[in-house]
Amino acid sequence: MKFIDEISFQGQKVLMRVDFNVPLDDKSEVAGDNRIRAALPGIRHILAGGGRLVLCSHLGRPGGRAAAEFSLKPVARRLGELLKTGVPLAPDCIGPRAAEMVNNLQDGEVLLLENLRFHPGEAENSPKFAHALARLAAIYVNDAFAVSHRRHASIVGIPQLTAECAAGFLIRREIRYFRQAMQEPARPLVAIIGGAKVSSKLRMLENLLARVDRLIIGGAMANTFLRAKGMNMGASLVEPDLVPAAAALLDKAERRGVKVYLPQDSVIARELSGDGPTKTVPVRDIPDGWLALDIGPVTVKSFAEAIREAKTIVWNGPPGAFELEPFRQGTTAIAREVGASPALTIVGGGDTGLAVQRAGETENMSYISTGGGAFLRFLEGRELPGLAALHAAPAGG
Ligand code: 3PG
Repeated sequence: MKFIDEISFQGQKVLMRVDFNVPLDDKSEVAGDNRIRAALPGIRHILAGGGRLVLCSHLGRPGGRAAAEFSLKPVARRLGELLKTGVPLAPDCIGPRAAEMVNNLQDGEVLLLENLRFHPGEAENSPKFAHALARLAAIYVNDAFAVSHRRHASIVGIPQLTAECAAGFLIRREIRYFRQAMQEPARPLVAIIGGAKVSSKLRMLENLLARVDRLIIGGAMANTFLRAKGMNMGASLVEPDLVPAAAALLDKAERRGVKVYLPQDSVIARELSGDGPTKTVPVRDIPDGWLALDIGPVTVKSFAEAIREAKTIVWNGPPGAFELEPFRQGTTAIAREVGASPALTIVGGGDTGLAVQRAGETENMSYISTGGGAFLRFLEGRELPGLAALHAAPAGG
């Protein structure tokens, strides 16, 4: 796989896939520009090298139809502010108007194409749609790590079609940090896994068991493990079908000598709301009708012990319902512990990044991945189709 610093862009039309799938506020302005900022080094490199840069991205899930609320207009504005230059937005990503705007680009100029997902061909990986996009440029660059787990036309279709293709700097950074953490880690390697469901993370947990020294499990998914250990868990979210799988994972961990940390106490409430009464109780004493919504102080202390000994930490998923103030303390405490650790600390998943940001710890992490689903897939030990497509691209590419 080639990277963009191995290619000459002077005078060339370059189609660069980025992931500008960013949150918008109620005025349709960009509410978080991390993903736009993460793409800047690659964008600046191509422009400085005299490339004629055509950026393409999705935003949200418009379902194959044009819809004003999913327009990339606010993103073009924000990117223009960051680059200190106007960034024109082509009204469609393919068709005569897009082609005309691309043809009018001068060396070192940039434009953004409108949302790729306004066309069903993107998610369907239609060869016709991939051709229509590929036709716009001679060189294709993928720097959209966060969507490289999708078999979409702009991710897996185009690399076969352009004369040259390469991965961008953001993809290189993501791969390097991930390798450092998971393939050649300084030990102990500690994984902190949270979030709502075991079902969405089972494959990842299986893979992690083969690699980590300690596994911390929090969030609602911990409830299924606690049920497997015989706790009642009140009205907490438990996936009954997965209790046997959770029990098997715990057994496997024991056989492999991986120490698993589960919650010992929980902040509980009768409902997931920001203003009802709450209590903190040991997990074995959660009454009927109550839900475990955050880890309690005894749990924070035990998780912190594992974190303090770690030399490498990988964190995916918050340990509590941190979006509501009464259930935020556990997640904040863990973010502070990870932030204070001198270990290599890699954080991934949209919610986790947000939790770290709310705790004011963003600057204290070694790396925050731009990926949600893509990061998860990496943690599952699986290849990303977008990266495989770059590897498989024809020799010229
Ligand atoms: C993400 O936000 O994880 C990526 O942009 C992919 O978005 P998707 O889940 O809608 O494909």
